[in-house]
Amino acid sequence: MLAVGGQRVTEFLSSVLPVPGDSRLEDEFQRPLVTLTFAQSLDAKIAGKGGKQLILSGRESMLMTHWMRTKHDAILVGIGTALNDDPQLNSRHIPEDERPSHLPRPVILDTNLRLRPDCKLLKNYRERKGRRPWVICDANLSSGDGRKSILEDAGARVIGVPSVDVIWISSGFIVIPDLLKVLYNFGIKSLMVEGGATVIGSFLAECARTKPNTIIDTLIITIAPMLIGDDGVGYGEKLLATQIPSLKHIQTEVMGRDVVIVSALK
Ligand SMILES: NC(=O)c1ccc[n+]([C@@H]2O[C@H](COP(=O)([O-])OP(=O)(O)OC[C@H]3O[C@@H](n4cnc5c(N)ncnc54)[C@H](OP(=O)(O)O)[C@@H]3O)[C@@H](O)[C@H]2O)c1
Repeated sequence: MLAVGGQRVTEFLSSVLPVPGDSRLEDEFQRPLVTLTFAQSLDAKIAGKGGKQLILSGRESMLMTHWMRTKHDAILVGIGTALNDDPQLNSRHIPEDERPSHLPRPVILDTNLRLRPDCKLLKNYRERKGRRPWVICDANLSSGDGRKSILEDAGARVIGVPSVDVIWISSGFIVIPDLLKVLYNFGIKSLMVEGGATVIGSFLAECARTKPNTIIDTLIITIAPMLIGDDGVGYGEKLLATQIPSLKHIQTEVMGRDVVIVSALK
């Protein structure tokens, strides 16, 4: 079992995360190194009924996640998570005397600019407690009924990226390879994708579709000893077998009461 102190967690993460500056990826694909990571229950749910936010990770694996945040240039969530959980995406669980000064950049996938200007991410930026959030919207979104300027006034940097229509929803989804290219060109060399359900599913599907440029480099899933039930929120439920990438096992660690499984994408 991994005793979770800053040094041990750092060693664990260094042994499983790819090294920034990997020339193969940077030269060939011009995208950041991508870590997809989330916590799930034993029955593969990431949230409760109706999207209710659940604290699935125990103390040790939560600390590991906060350390992982410090090892990435940016953290990405979908607008569903931003509206539902109002996350801070910082590393506040690390004791102050151990906490690295690096703050990851929050990135929100928000095709139609639905982010609330009073959300914690923007508030933290205004109070100098977080980096300026980047809100990724559809490049063809006309002024968004003034929502663009409202979000910019609240502190966001709004970036347009092409979107594509998705069969099961009326609006478009940001095109993931285009998004990664844009982030890379803006200096993001490592990206941690934290969810939620729809984002996890679309990154996995994109990974299978674009093989061998796998999109995700490392998948780190924390499994908590809990059962949520069928009315909880799962991920990848709409994905067909052909839309699921193959995994190569890298490492499994027990952290407190949780199991953390690290895989690479084949
Ligand atoms: N356990 C965990 O580790 C964990 C982590 C994070 C979140 N969660 C949970 O996940 C739930 C939220 O999941 P969710 O599915 O409702 O929302 P989500 O995945 O956070 O956001 C999905 C939304 O993002 C926008 N989007 C734009 N481009 C996209 C793309 N390429 N791929 C996917 N989405 C794109 C779409 O909305 P627009 O069309 O409006 O832009 C889409 O509906 C919450 O209950 C939260 O608590 C759990």
